[in-house]
Amino acid sequence: MTSHSSALAHPFFASALLNWYPRHRRDLPWRHTRDPYAIWLSEVILQQTRVKQGLPYYLDFVTTYPTVQQLAAAPEDEVMRHWQGLGYYSRARNMHHTAKQVTSEFGGQFPGSYAGLLQLKGVGQYTAAAIASFAYDEQVAVLDGNVYRVLARVFGISADIAAPASRKVFQQLADTLIPAASPAEFNQAIMEFGAIQCTPVKPDCLFCPCKVNALLFSMVWCRSCP
Ligand code: ADE
Repeated sequence: MTSHSSALAHPFFASALLNWYPRHRRDLPWRHTRDPYAIWLSEVILQQTRVKQGLPYYLDFVTTYPTVQQLAAAPEDEVMRHWQGLGYYSRARNMHHTAKQVTSEFGGQFPGSYAGLLQLKGVGQYTAAAIASFAYDEQVAVLDGNVYRVLARVFGISADIAAPASRKVFQQLADTLIPAASPAEFNQAIMEFGAIQCTPVKPDCLFCPCKVNALLFSMVWCRSCP
């Protein structure tokens, strides 16, 4: 990380985000639960869907199928009807399959760790990290498009985010940034910051939370700041 050493120091990044997050976050229902099933449902729905569009579907699914056993026991055509309008219908079929896997192979309990969650069909590194951190407070950093963009900008990383080798660079950096005391908050915060302030177009750099501490110590706060 020597090339980033004069950028915002790592502990400042986490504290800046954790200070920003409670003041700016959207109040979303999956942020009020530690139930791995509900968190998994929200992440499957939000994979290719905007929050505004996914929200009513999330509420419908947790109400209709409050437990993974109830989802597993539902007829597939009924599950597909509830998914109607969300698109990418293979997500619904895979979700139903995974619910049955959790019920039959894991006794209805989601695996209790990042490594365990990766055993589930359709649960990749992102979803496993999201569930493990949000539900179990495991210190594992999520990487999605928003996280890549925020890290690339703040720490001046030019690696092509589409290249598989770049994933390692970002994962290593994110793993050093995520604080042991608040991994869930940190992951939510960095995703939310990318979604609503450090946006792809017209990011709000004027009120960047990374600035305040960095200015005090005469550090660079963001490699991309105009
Ligand atoms: N998109 C994907 N996961 C999300 C989450 N947990 N909160 C808000 N937006 C998301």
